[in-house]
Amino acid sequence: MHSATSLDPAAFVDALNAVFGPQNGNRASHAKGLFLEGDFEANGRAAAITRAPHLETARRSRVLARFSVGGGNPRASDKARSVRGLALRFDFGEGSTDLVMMSAPVFFIRHPAHFVDYFEARRPDAATGLVDPERIAAFNASHPDTRPHIEHLASVAPPASYATSPYFAIHAFRFIDKGDQTVHARWHMEPLAGRKSLDETGLSTLPDDFLAEELATRLSMGPVEFELWLQIAEDGDALDDPTVTWPMDRAQLNVGRLRLTAFVHPSQDVMFNPMALVDGIEASNDPVLRARLAAYRVSRERRT
Ligand code: HEM
Repeated sequence: MHSATSLDPAAFVDALNAVFGPQNGNRASHAKGLFLEGDFEANGRAAAITRAPHLETARRSRVLARFSVGGGNPRASDKARSVRGLALRFDFGEGSTDLVMMSAPVFFIRHPAHFVDYFEARRPDAATGLVDPERIAAFNASHPDTRPHIEHLASVAPPASYATSPYFAIHAFRFIDKGDQTVHARWHMEPLAGRKSLDETGLSTLPDDFLAEELATRLSMGPVEFELWLQIAEDGDALDDPTVTWPMDRAQLNVGRLRLTAFVHPSQDVMFNPMALVDGIEASNDPVLRARLAAYRVSRERRT
């Protein structure tokens, strides 16, 4: 039915399933998660680089959000040294757009062709159920582009709350203003509660499923809030490589505030789409960004 190349979207999902087990109704990646609703209020500053309607001054969008723990294990520990996810759907009345982010500022492969190999190196042995650290080390040694992501996970302890992690869309996107001028920029969300990681006590005493309850307690006291930022590229910055960050001194635009107010329980059919964009925002040529949608569709088909 489909050719078994490493860019086959079904092969991406097969590689995830081989590590984490079959889907059984869950997402092939970021299987553990919960949905919230809220709103996003734009402050209009994004007009400097884009005509996107949901970023116009005082525009308020309804938002569906899903926080998640990275990987395809629906029972993963909330204390795991893996990424956390934040997927958002902005409904601004005459349309909608999605933003699908993770807590690391860089992705673990530069090219989608390496996605399958990355997980293949992490596949547990069929007989012993154990992963082979030597296979992982060999993959990492032959793929130096994977190092920034691994170093990030090693250097930052897991977040103490879904509400105390930053989230990065990682890829560059093209932003087009009313005069058709184009720049590249990268999105990230910054938590108003500040960045806070688990300390040693939290790591040793908290249960594996603490994040949902932590969020419920927090929501009972008020909304969970984030500020949305755009970092603007300058000449020479890598526009199509999700494994490198841009220099810290690049201009940053604060474009609005996200407020999440309550848990919701939409159908599990909901699929966030990193390519669901609007007039004023286009995908860059990042091959990883361009490979995602087809894989998400395979995962959605298999889980519904
Ligand atoms: C070639 C690269 C990638 C592949 C093959 C891939 C694959 C997948 C798949 C199959 C799913 C499940 C989709 C569903 O069933 O709805 C998923 C979910 C997710 N991915 Fe990726 N992904 C890639 C890159 C990324 C990147 C770069 C990010 C962050 C910037 C990311 C963040 C997420 C998040 C947050 C979710 C959960 C979405 C939700 O809550 O519904 N992924 N990914």
